[in-house]
Amino acid sequence: MSHSILITGGAGFIGSHVVREFVTKYPDYTIVNLDLLTYAGNLANLTDIENHANYHFVKGDIMDEALIERLFHKYKFTGVVHLAAESHVDRSIKDPLAFLNTNILGTVTLLNAAKKHWDGNFEGKRFYHVSTDEVYGSLGAEGLFLETTSYDPQSPYSASKASSDHFVRAYGNTYGLPFVITNCSNNYGPNQFPEKLLPLFIHNIQEQKTLPVYGDGKYTRDWLYVIDHAKAIDAVYHKGANAETYNIGGFNEWQNIELIKLMCTIMDNKLGRSKGSSEELITYVTDRPGHDRRYAIDASKIKTELGWEPSVTFEQGLELTIGWYLNNEEWLKNVTSGDYLAYYDSQYNN
Ligand code: NAD
Ligand code: TYD
Repeated sequence: MSHSILITGGAGFIGSHVVREFVTKYPDYTIVNLDLLTYAGNLANLTDIENHANYHFVKGDIMDEALIERLFHKYKFTGVVHLAAESHVDRSIKDPLAFLNTNILGTVTLLNAAKKHWDGNFEGKRFYHVSTDEVYGSLGAEGLFLETTSYDPQSPYSASKASSDHFVRAYGNTYGLPFVITNCSNNYGPNQFPEKLLPLFIHNIQEQKTLPVYGDGKYTRDWLYVIDHAKAIDAVYHKGANAETYNIGGFNEWQNIELIKLMCTIMDNKLGRSKGSSEELITYVTDRPGHDRRYAIDASKIKTELGWEPSVTFEQGLELTIGWYLNNEEWLKNVTSGDYLAYYDSQYNN
């Protein structure tokens, strides 16, 4: 059967790496990238592959039922890889409804379309839902998230992602819709919008602005290089068992403050600044409300069952990432200035 895959959110951080992985690795697949181009979506992430014959971009909303219907008709999708979402915890604290709409209603709209078009003929079909480890809530000093860990989301963002995960499983259980879900730890790498920790701090160190560390800085995250996440999605899409969940992580826990100090050292070196000068930018600020203390993934299931594991060490990934942001100042300037949003408005909304 020929593959025709709808990738949602493909102009965002992780989505753009997933689109590139699929478009270049599978030239005989049809890949349709549906993205609303919110503040986090940026077609400049995909200029290297935008002219490939097997790639199509559609600007649109995953909640637009009529559009999704037309796309299913036109492209006869055999798979959906669903990444489109509101993804930033701090924004979810300010505007939970936006997260409910995109992350829950948007997911259910896509599930309905897949169910309708694949009904009675689920052979060779797959709905792949990309989710986060944040659905499991917060760990104490010990332990790791397993695929069997109970859901305990603590932020409006993680509550909306948990809900969407439940809907995907419910469609599998109730209607037989073939699906897989992955729950991944914090990603870092090129093309991440500079509201998240790494790109924000790289930008601020470069500009010698303060580094706002939330609370005591002793919060722990498990970091994975984004291209390794894209490769894991490829592995699960093609080899994962139906109705299964796989946790994806970097086997790489860091306390925020230790990671920030490491970034300061690397950047002092790269920018030829005196040792310790960037650390002076560290400023402890009011904590995020409801801040999850620790996330850590046990990724042994995907490793033993599907043979996936991270391909780069954290040292290599950080080096690549910091190098990328320093070499792509124009990208950073564009996304922080809002120029590119004005450009998209004039390009698509007239
Ligand atoms: P992102 O915010 O960088 O990108 C999201 C993309 O979705 C953007 O291109 C945006 O334009 C698009 N989008 C938003 N609303 C839309 C809508 N209504 N219709 C169509 N497109 C829409 O996010 P990201 O960090 O790349 O995350 C992608 C997915 O991976 C999300 O589902 C997120 O929950 C999940 N995830 C992220 C991380 C992480 O560390 N960033 C970790 C685990 C899981
Ligand atoms: P973030 O990149 O927002 O990812 P998430 O909240 O989904 O894990 O934040 C990573 C960690 O860094 C988290 O513990 C919050 C902290 N943080 C700061 O201390 N200061 C900041 O300015 C930001 C954006 C995050």
